[in-house]
Amino acid sequence: MNNDHQPTVQLVAISGSIRRASNCTAVLRSLQPLLPAGVTLHIAPLDAIPPYNADLDGDAPPEPVAALKRAIAAADGIVLCSPEYNYGMPGVLKNAIDWASRPGFASPLKGKPALIMTASPGTAGGVRAQAQIRDALAATLARPLVRQHVAIANVASRIQDGRLVDASTLDFIRVALDELLAEIAMLAGARRRPAA
Ligand SMILES: Cc1cc2nc3c(=O)[nH]c(=O)nc-3n(C[C@H](O)[C@H](O)[C@H](O)COP(=O)(O)O)c2cc1C
Repeated sequence: MNNDHQPTVQLVAISGSIRRASNCTAVLRSLQPLLPAGVTLHIAPLDAIPPYNADLDGDAPPEPVAALKRAIAAADGIVLCSPEYNYGMPGVLKNAIDWASRPGFASPLKGKPALIMTASPGTAGGVRAQAQIRDALAATLARPLVRQHVAIANVASRIQDGRLVDASTLDFIRVALDELLAEIAMLAGARRRPAA
């Protein structure tokens, strides 16, 4: 959130799937129209992030990692949408969180409000991955939003031409995004208040 008269909020969106026709990425691509004026959302790609290797980590990590960390650092909040793989979080997403989590407890993820969403062509909507994603974010001192799960079942049937088009799903997500923005505003207000 900037200090200009016209407040702007930046959200970074992260998909747990790097395949070209990903349903999760399609969901994220559909969110901008749900956001109020002054709120921007950019998708940070994970496809060039290498497997985590502490030998490559430090002040100058691989450029795709540095770009991801810059995007997270510049954002006021995070929106994740991920499939579940074998009842858990995809390795691609865990790997990205691991890279972004360094230095430990002082990384760009620290203090960032994060909305977790999952999606699946199946009936559980990927919900079984949510606890793992929440735990990993909590370990980084990010602030996963406490709310009802956003778990999008039968996701493929709700997507057309790479966009989420199902009105009731969009309405449900809009409420979750509003809660994320309220959390961001609450934290910004707390930072501005002088200590007693
Ligand atoms: C390795 C693997 C494991 C999967 N395990 C699950 C699972 O446990 N539950 C589920 O609902 N779908 C599972 N799926 C199906 C994914 O939900 C489906 O491929 C989904 O479309 C992937 O998300 P995307 O469209 O964003 O790429 C699995 C897919 C793969 C490739």
